[in-house]
Formats: sequence, structure tokens, C-alpha cells
Amino acid sequence: MPWRGVRRLGTVPFVSAEDQATQPAGTRICRADELDEGRSIKFRLTDAERTLDCFAVRFAGVAHGYVNECRHVAMTLDWVENQFFTEDGTHLLCPTHGAWYLPDTGECIAGPPCGKSLHRVPLVERDGDLFALPPQWN
Ligand code: FES
Repeated sequence: MPWRGVRRLGTVPFVSAEDQATQPAGTRICRADELDEGRSIKFRLTDAERTLDCFAVRFAGVAHGYVNECRHVAMTLDWVENQFFTEDGTHLLCPTHGAWYLPDTGECIAGPPCGKSLHRVPLVERDGDLFALPPQWN
């Protein structure tokens, strides 16, 4: 269902006060200012069927959320706890077989799942907090 009245700032939509009453609250992740540039925060989303491991990163000033699962094989990306970025901070890395993903789109640009994208978890900033919405299965 499209989000009526959501104004997008980068990929983090801003939800006006009048729209908050008509939209699901999402799952609170953290204070938005806790997710500094180049940092990542893991969180879980739970629905009636399952619990998903997810993570949020801030890249070029914008917060992005993804399901923590490589598109090659269903492995988590953080081989070291909560470490998703390459050493130079320019890409997200799956160390199992060396896939590189773009932090802002989730697209794999090198490695076995090249051309596929991480499943995006839309993020919403509301009253200084960051919330995760249900994943987009692409
Ligand atoms: S499991 Fe991620 S590249 Fe193979």
C-alpha cells in the first residue's frame, strides 16, 4: 500500500504529524542521531510468521535499512558483529564469498549475486527517532 502524504528526504521519509495517525508506527530502532555517518545498527523485525535480522547504516548523510541476508546464500553480512562496511567505508561487504553492495541502494556490484539487491527495510524518522517499516521483497 503506498504511503499517502509521506515526504521523502533521501530515502528516509519524513512523516508529518497529521499522517502519523493514519500510518503504521513501525519498529523503533534508535535515536536518529545515534546512527552516525559510516555506522551501522542491527535490529530485528517480527511479524506473525517470523523474525528477521536487519541493519541500518548511515551513508552520505542518509539512513538506509536492509534485511541482514546476502542475496547469494542466506548468510548474514556481518562476519564481525555489527561490521557491514568495507574497510574504506564505501561499500557493504558479504565476506562469505566477497559480494560488494552499494550502501545507498543495496545493489550488488561485485561478487556472486551481482545485479541483485539487498531487501530494503524502509526507514522513517519521527520525532528524532528512527523506525523500520516492513521489508520490501524484491
Ligand atoms: S553468501 Fe554472500 S557472497 Fe556468497
